[in-house]
Amino acid sequence: MFKRIPGTKDILPEEVSNWQAIEEATRKIFSLYNYKEIRPPVIEEAALFTRSLGESAEIVQKQMFLIKRDEDTYALRPEGTASIVRAYLENNLDKTTGLMKVYYIGPMFRAERPQKGRLRQFHHLGSEVIGSQEPHLDVEVISLAGKLLESYGIEGYEIKINSLGCAKDKKGFTENLRVMLKDKLAKLCDDCNVRFKQNVLRILDCKNEGCIEVVKELDIRGGHLCPECKTHFDKVTDGLNSLNINYKIDPFLVRGLDYYTRTVFEIIHNGLGAQNALGAGGRYDNLVHELGGPDAGAIGFAFGMERLLLVINKALPAAAKNLVYVITLGDQAKREGLKLLESLRCAGIPSDTDYENKSIKGALRKANDLAARYVLIIGEDEIKKGIIAFKDMASGEQKEIKQTELTDYLKGLLQRG
Ligand code: HAM
Repeated sequence: MFKRIPGTKDILPEEVSNWQAIEEATRKIFSLYNYKEIRPPVIEEAALFTRSLGESAEIVQKQMFLIKRDEDTYALRPEGTASIVRAYLENNLDKTTGLMKVYYIGPMFRAERPQKGRLRQFHHLGSEVIGSQEPHLDVEVISLAGKLLESYGIEGYEIKINSLGCAKDKKGFTENLRVMLKDKLAKLCDDCNVRFKQNVLRILDCKNEGCIEVVKELDIRGGHLCPECKTHFDKVTDGLNSLNINYKIDPFLVRGLDYYTRTVFEIIHNGLGAQNALGAGGRYDNLVHELGGPDAGAIGFAFGMERLLLVINKALPAAAKNLVYVITLGDQAKREGLKLLESLRCAGIPSDTDYENKSIKGALRKANDLAARYVLIIGEDEIKKGIIAFKDMASGEQKEIKQTELTDYLKGLLQRG
């Protein structure tokens, strides 16, 4: 028998209702903030990610699922930001839309070592805003991320923020770090020794005990920001304060992707274990230009949906199903049942029947398993009399209803809730 690939997951029918509940809450919140949905493809030119995330980013170096075809190399998207900037430019939205506020929900692919909360195919629920450098936009995006978590009933999370500064500040910060760390390489792990050469900022969020000890001693409290970036960050924190949003400034928060500048943030939850980030994001003010577009500020974030579900860890209220289950006794009744189902569905009433030739007892049990609200039974007698036997599954009430009046009767019941 075939097995699924490690790090992938079947989302089974009984789990899907939680996914749908999250998606529904997400769409409501995004529309409240006037964000529209975007659906880019899951496969892109690999170079788009190399260029956007940076040659030395771990995702690019080790985690991209690559597909070679003739001369071309494609990648299953490891994240959404680069695709959305590509779509923004390719579809001339910079010229037609101006500021673009979008959200997306969909699968991402990274060849990581699977563990709790870390998959090879996982789902992002994210958003990107392209076309503004306004610090209050950062405030909107961070507050929106918090609103989403509230709408899923998630509590006990922590928002950490930092500013990396502009490209020049980041460069200065990187050089400074190199100077501070160059005598301490022996105390750093092998990965951090590689990072020292390629991506020194990542040493700040290494989880290795020895590296944490070294990093703790470094004096890096925001001194790398130029006056403009400092003002930007002050306006962000001031805006967050004015909305009473709880956050913690974490000077060690850097993020692993090259495109980030200025504000970066991460939302963590202790219920997650080692992979404790529910989501993360930040500004990427230079990416649009680097991918061939105009100078356009941009910011976004993404939650890992599997991680949201890990902390929710309970069934979310599903949309009311109001299922009507039709049970037929005998061949003639089956034919009547077929027509009845058609009329129920045409009237917008969710309905189903038994296709497994169960006994009446078995069919009633099935109706119960499906949480059907009402059961309709048709046999020879009912056909002769032009009636349907009706059963309310919650109260147990049973009665006969004229076939001609059935749809209106059910509609009335379902409308009353
Ligand atoms: P990221 O931090 O790489 O950021 O991913 C965002 C979130 O996706 C993480 O915080 C985590 O919850 C989830 N995640 C990442 N990798 C995995 C995995 N292997 N398995 C399960 N969940 C995972 C980005 O991707 C940026 N594009 C976010 C962003 C949008 N920045 C600006 N705009």
